[in-house]
Amino acid sequence: MKLADNKATLSFSNGSPSVDLPVYRGSVGPDVIDIRKLYAQTGMFTYDPGFLSTAACQSAITYIDGDKGELLYRGYPIEQLATKCDYLDTCHLLLKGELPTLQERQDFHKLILRHTMVNEQMQFFLRGFRRDAHPMAVLTGLVGALSAFYHDSTDINNPEHRAIAAIRLIAKMPTLVAMAYKYGVGQPYMYPRNDLSYAGNFLRMMFGSPCEDYRVNPVLERALDRIFILHADHEQNASTSTVRLCGSSGTNPFAAIAAGVACLWGPAHGGANEACLNMLEDIERQGGVAKVGQFMEQVKDKNSGVKLMGFGHRVYKNYDPRAKLMQETCNEVLTELGLEKDPLFKLAKELEKIALEDDYFVQRKLYPNVDFYSGIVQRAIGIPVNLFTGIFSLARTVGWIAQLNEMISDPEYKIGRPRQLFIGAVARDVKSLADR
Ligand code: ACO
Repeated sequence: MKLADNKATLSFSNGSPSVDLPVYRGSVGPDVIDIRKLYAQTGMFTYDPGFLSTAACQSAITYIDGDKGELLYRGYPIEQLATKCDYLDTCHLLLKGELPTLQERQDFHKLILRHTMVNEQMQFFLRGFRRDAHPMAVLTGLVGALSAFYHDSTDINNPEHRAIAAIRLIAKMPTLVAMAYKYGVGQPYMYPRNDLSYAGNFLRMMFGSPCEDYRVNPVLERALDRIFILHADHEQNASTSTVRLCGSSGTNPFAAIAAGVACLWGPAHGGANEACLNMLEDIERQGGVAKVGQFMEQVKDKNSGVKLMGFGHRVYKNYDPRAKLMQETCNEVLTELGLEKDPLFKLAKELEKIALEDDYFVQRKLYPNVDFYSGIVQRAIGIPVNLFTGIFSLARTVGWIAQLNEMISDPEYKIGRPRQLFIGAVARDVKSLADR
């Protein structure tokens, strides 16, 4: 880490001696104050619920400038990656630090596509779930269970194991997500086809049947590939931090990624696209565009508990660059499928228009996030709402594994152990039952 020219001095109003703290400078973005010796020097911890001001690691993978609305994977703007590269190029970039050369690209694609099948026994494991189980419950189980099937890639301290686990996870996630879907609808599983693209293969495993050939629609294939690229990584968000914290104990990569899947399920994180689409359908049921004004009043009323799902972001306080790309894809997909007049798309655009002009949203810097439009695209493709977060976890797997591997290779890495400000009862004696 590179020291900045200045240092920070922490002083106390009670006359305790002040403490100098080193400041480090990254390649871009805010400097950080190193507080690692704070407890030893002062006997105090810092207090930062939600880690709003805490850099928990150094990372060279993804950079977000929330004020500018900028997202870079390894330095490349998301807009360029989404228009000039495909998802597997992006995976190569995130995992290895560089976009592949032509030869590397062919090798990497081949490597991923040769690992798409899952152990046949997995389908019997899947059978233990209720048919109506939420796909995220199923996926959390299936991803965690990979560690029971692939014993030769579970040693997180072995770089070769980590590399194989990364390839396996990226290759097998589409198969697992499609299996979870097929199981839920009672259709036969479709084995992967390695002559198709990553996204094309997934579409076929989802919507194909053994009874007839499946033709991949290139517009939907591109749309899905873009969804994967846009969701591939997002620096130290809740699920990635979960994966890092979980992996910091030395657990195996499959278990750490399963923890990420579980975290992503929440409606404030990956579950937002599902929540957003449910919200749009609710408004549509209640009268559609005509009811938008009334709905917005509820959103602005603190006591209603209603939020405009797909709006607002912890980091982007200007615009989520992924939302613009997703809106473009939304237009393409709906046009391809002859759904230009889709009422939910119309409703979403109306909500966005009102919100962007409304003082409540303007003052709070609330803009549409990627989930605002991704749900409409997925629904048009035919993906059921309860599988949206599963698609997100499929796409984010590469980010999780790249971040996990970066952490393990970092000489500064330690088992994660946050501290607390204790406000509970101080030591007291247990009274006998009669005296309580
Ligand atoms: N609708 C209405 N009001 C909102 C919304 C929203 N979607 N988001 C934030 N606000 C309001 C808050 O009530 C708060 O108002 P106040 O200052 O009057 O109390 C203010 O804006 C700031 O909100 P915070 O919750 O402090 O913002 P934070 O950055 O912590 O939260 C979050 C970000 C959790 C994403 C929030 O905006 C939200 O819940 N959005 C809806 C869910 C969503 O779309 N999540 C997807 C995240 S992106 C992803 O995971 C891919």
